[in-house]
Amino acid sequence: MTHFLDIHKTDPDALREIIDTAKRVKAARAGRPKGTPDDDLPLAGHMVALIFEKPSTRTRVSFDVGVRQMGGQTMVLSGTDMQLGHGETIADTARVLSRYVDLIMMRTFEEDTILEMAEFATVPVINGLTNRTHPCQIMADVLTFEEHRGPIKGKKVVWTGDGNNVFASFAHAATQFEFDLVFSGPEPLDPEPSLNGRFTTERNPHKAVEGADLVVTDTWVSMHDPQSARERRHNQLRGYQVNAELMAHAKPGALFMHCLPAHRDDEATSEVMDGPHSVIFDEAENRLHAQKAIMRWCLGK
Ligand code: CP
Ligand code: NVA
Repeated sequence: MTHFLDIHKTDPDALREIIDTAKRVKAARAGRPKGTPDDDLPLAGHMVALIFEKPSTRTRVSFDVGVRQMGGQTMVLSGTDMQLGHGETIADTARVLSRYVDLIMMRTFEEDTILEMAEFATVPVINGLTNRTHPCQIMADVLTFEEHRGPIKGKKVVWTGDGNNVFASFAHAATQFEFDLVFSGPEPLDPEPSLNGRFTTERNPHKAVEGADLVVTDTWVSMHDPQSARERRHNQLRGYQVNAELMAHAKPGALFMHCLPAHRDDEATSEVMDGPHSVIFDEAENRLHAQKAIMRWCLGK
């Protein structure tokens, strides 16, 4: 079974194939209305379940649109409305869903949930974000970087802020796509030590971004973080805000990315988000193209 669970669990050649497919399918649709189908309809006759145990705008809409463009059908399911949210095991849910659908995309809390879903499903499972990782996002980010600046291999990517799930997938990608990744954040919010990725740490954000080809940040409080930690996190992370002054220390042509949703003027200023370095809406668009390529790869299409 070809699951897409994490970037470090996916072969580098497969990751490169997915990025190349994404570029190709995106180019093939240039200028076409978003509601029109792709020429080859690779998911014709296929049913895809999109399960959300957390809120989502981009993941929900881009997967739904992507499946439809490829000729398939979707059902968007809320975890709380399913028996899953009322005591049915993940394993039984996986076995049952596999009798109805051809592909499962799931956004959930614990990583173990998606691992159990993948273990017991007899159809491919795609990770649409857990507390630990967000692999689809980083595939879109690699695609976005390469569209603007060419191959990401050997480039310097700097992450400022919380060492969270999106950072973890960046660290996995650094190994697989062979770029240099620097983490710059306060020690209490360091990435998990068990993280199976490649990066160095520089506490001083100004030093960290020197020579950066790409500066990335994310929300200071993730969906799984307790709201009670909000004030403490803001105090810890204030010095890591991406603003015009920080971006001036990066390479002149450096890109700025944020997976969104953003809290404007907390982790990044509107000046940067809407400024010349920013490619945040290209990233959002590329979720669609990257995930279409991931789904094709999972289904061998
Ligand atoms: N970046 C991202 O995954 O956004 P959503 O939470 O809106 O899906
Ligand atoms: N780190 C964020 C990413 C949202 C797409 C979260 O988990 O809430």
